[in-house]
Amino acid sequence: MSKKIWYSLFAVLALTALVLTACGGAAPAEPAAEAPAAPVEEAAPADTQVEVFSWWTGGGEAAGLEAMIGIFDAEYPDIEFVNAAVAGGAGTNARAVLATRLQAGDPPDSWQGHAGQELIGTYVEGGQIQALNDLYEAEGWLDVMPETLIPLISNEGNIYSVPVNIHRANVMWYNPTVLEENGVEVPTTMDEWFAAMDTLQAAGVTPLALGEQWTQLHLFETVLLGSLGSEAYDGLWDGSTDWTSAEVTAALDNFAKVLTYTNSDSASLSWQDASQLVINGDAAFNVMGDWAEGYFRELGKTPETDYGWAPVPGSVGVFQFLSDSFTLAVGAPHPEGAEAWLKIAGSKAGQEAFNPIKGSICARTDCDPELFGVYLQSAMADWGSNTVSGSLTHGVVANDSWKSEIDTALGLFLIDQDVEGFQTALVAACVSSGPCQ
Ligand code: GAL
Repeated sequence: MSKKIWYSLFAVLALTALVLTACGGAAPAEPAAEAPAAPVEEAAPADTQVEVFSWWTGGGEAAGLEAMIGIFDAEYPDIEFVNAAVAGGAGTNARAVLATRLQAGDPPDSWQGHAGQELIGTYVEGGQIQALNDLYEAEGWLDVMPETLIPLISNEGNIYSVPVNIHRANVMWYNPTVLEENGVEVPTTMDEWFAAMDTLQAAGVTPLALGEQWTQLHLFETVLLGSLGSEAYDGLWDGSTDWTSAEVTAALDNFAKVLTYTNSDSASLSWQDASQLVINGDAAFNVMGDWAEGYFRELGKTPETDYGWAPVPGSVGVFQFLSDSFTLAVGAPHPEGAEAWLKIAGSKAGQEAFNPIKGSICARTDCDPELFGVYLQSAMADWGSNTVSGSLTHGVVANDSWKSEIDTALGLFLIDQDVEGFQTALVAACVSSGPCQ
């Protein structure tokens, strides 16, 4: 992110810390926060259950969630965990179901939301989730969550969710055998990537595996990052990079070219299907977040032998991140169950059980690295040393309306391949939903 943004994020953090200090004073920590408004008579039914909504139903994701539920069940044997996960990568289906439920006044107790604009620009803006400052104070989470993350889940001094992980979006997975057989080195720049994919294509290998539309948006954001560099990429979201500029045109040209190396049946493939093409040796590369690693491990594959990884070409030294977090609904039917769940989601034990399986690193800074495999250990090192940028597809940099306008423009572009028209539509999206005036 640009320094400007980080400075303002730090300012918000400082303000948050001040407000929390002012609220908490020097008094000893109070017992775990109880929702002040919950009448005592309702306490009994409220603490017997919790309904948790996510889109983690398969491919390494469900297994990670199950591991965290195991910790929950051991800690709270009297609270029934109702897993309301709805299938579909990146929450495309789940978020539609959630929106309908919220509109009908039927919220799950807690749901998965991405740190950043998705959380603040949608659920906080809509008055749909409760502030968790008391819980943060009682659990001491401000001491163990990354300082850079807190502003992305905060608004006006209130903290609104519990981050369970950090995922990396700009990962290029590859099949080491396919590269070796074709004499291709792992590319680090866009030009090297194109040259490698030309070689592979000439040899009759599918260079780049691709899936359904959200995975194409995911590819798009990583190519934008790889083409523009982190500073100009970050500037797209705060108005300091001009969407009409020649550098954006060049990035869109790169994206158009990248698409020429992909499989023709992408629209009908899930992200797991596309990852499988690489693992099976039917394609050389796939760009996907590191939940793919959770999937590879679930398939029993061996890192560095069955699959390799590198930053998407052009984005070496940049960690394009996203963070899954859990909320407390306004009007949660089971506030005590929800609070119990959030305590596990934010706990060291919960995160250490969840993340090594999910293919993410802990949001907490105190997890034991020895519990993680070689890929995730490398992600930890990069998270600590790289420049950090945010993901578009997974809620960090743009609110839902801007993201959906970009997605609509992308959908048209995939049909007509008209770079000029695509850029015009992206400019219009920034004007109507983003910082462009
Ligand atoms: C992301 C989410 C990840 C993973 C991925 C694929 O939006 O943050 O945790 O679930 O979708 O489904």
